[in-house]
Amino acid sequence: MRAMRKIRVRLKDRSYDIVIGRGLLSSLGLFVKKLRIGRAAVVVTNKRVFKLYGKTVKKALEKSGVSVKFEMVPETERAKSLEIMAGLLGRISRYDRKRDLFLIALGGGVIGDLAGFTAATYKRGVPYIQIPTTLLAQVDSAIGGKTAVDLPLAKNLVGAFYQPRLVLSDVSILKSLPKRELKNGLAEIIKYGVIKDKALFFFIERNRKKILDGDASALEHIILSSSSIKRALVEKDELDKKGARAMLNYGHTLGHAIEAASAYSGRYNHGEAVAIGMIAAANIAIKMGVMKDARDAVRLYKLIASCGLPVKARGLSPDRIFSAQLCDKKHSGRDLKFILPIEIGKVRVVPRVPEAVIRSAITEMTRA
Ligand SMILES: NC(=O)c1ccc[n+]([C@@H]2O[C@H](COP(=O)([O-])OP(=O)(O)OC[C@H]3O[C@@H](n4cnc5c(N)ncnc54)[C@H](O)[C@@H]3O)[C@@H](O)[C@H]2O)c1
Ligand SMILES: [Zn+2]
Repeated sequence: MRAMRKIRVRLKDRSYDIVIGRGLLSSLGLFVKKLRIGRAAVVVTNKRVFKLYGKTVKKALEKSGVSVKFEMVPETERAKSLEIMAGLLGRISRYDRKRDLFLIALGGGVIGDLAGFTAATYKRGVPYIQIPTTLLAQVDSAIGGKTAVDLPLAKNLVGAFYQPRLVLSDVSILKSLPKRELKNGLAEIIKYGVIKDKALFFFIERNRKKILDGDASALEHIILSSSSIKRALVEKDELDKKGARAMLNYGHTLGHAIEAASAYSGRYNHGEAVAIGMIAAANIAIKMGVMKDARDAVRLYKLIASCGLPVKARGLSPDRIFSAQLCDKKHSGRDLKFILPIEIGKVRVVPRVPEAVIRSAITEMTRA
């Protein structure tokens, strides 16, 4: 097996490892064997990912005496629905003649959320493994046990906290990822830098070309740093009730609003919207006197722009963005709560941001 790094997520009897490295997929069987979670794997994936990695996964598992059944779900967010989940559960139950069945999520965040929630509910819980295949999933969605499907009214409305037994982050898998998807994940990694780790922020500044070119060792470094930050926050606040996980929402209140306001055109994906949201939140931080040195905001703006991520939501209606952010579930009542940066590497929760300050940041964000 090649060199790999391990991060332990310590959650009592729900503890697990995040393993990060290159070419790990072909050793999947060995990991499964060590975990003793079963001999029959149901691998939830989609056609595109299956085509790229199905064979390797099958071979790796069968080599270790684990039988494999692949379950295909749609490529897009459409897979995160109760209808798709019901179909999946039905097929799993018909397949489940053995009692030692477990699930593997092989895909991006969509598959991770769906397969995780399916594992949480089938027979009141069977073990599952996350094999995140997007950068976003490796640094964010695969870690922490939040699983869910969507309802027509809103995303992630039905779900559970259910921790995986292993997260296998194989950096080699990212080679096939389209550049826009890579940047999508990179936006979240910049977020980790701003909220908790200025060394990570500086590393991205110095190595953005390598990262965008898919350099494995640069990617490994930023995935490791990001996963460690998420791990620490999850350990402190597994069920997202104590406030520690809240800082992960930096850039997300306005980011979600941008996604909602551009929903019909799909012009901005999640990471792009968060990138714009992070800049807007830094501007709010300056206006509120939370961020003392405006050079930090300029630095953030420059990094986001140089990574080829958008810095403005041009052409969107400021009123629509404002009303969309009012619906954000992270606001409590009419108090407009924001996570604002103090400097690169440090944020704090500001419970009441005046409406006028938010409106002016949104106007600036949408102006050419
Ligand atoms: N549970 C959590 O804590 C959490 C956190 C953040 C996001 N999410 C969820 O994650 C989802 C978004 O996840 P995502 O950004 O990974 O998108 P995604 O799962 O939709 O994947 C993006 C696209 O990339 C393709 N793809 C995946 N891996 C590939 C590879 N290695 N090579 C080529 N193509 C590949 C997929 O087929 C898909 O078309 C959303 O549903 C969001 O709600 C969950
Ligand atoms: Zn996000």
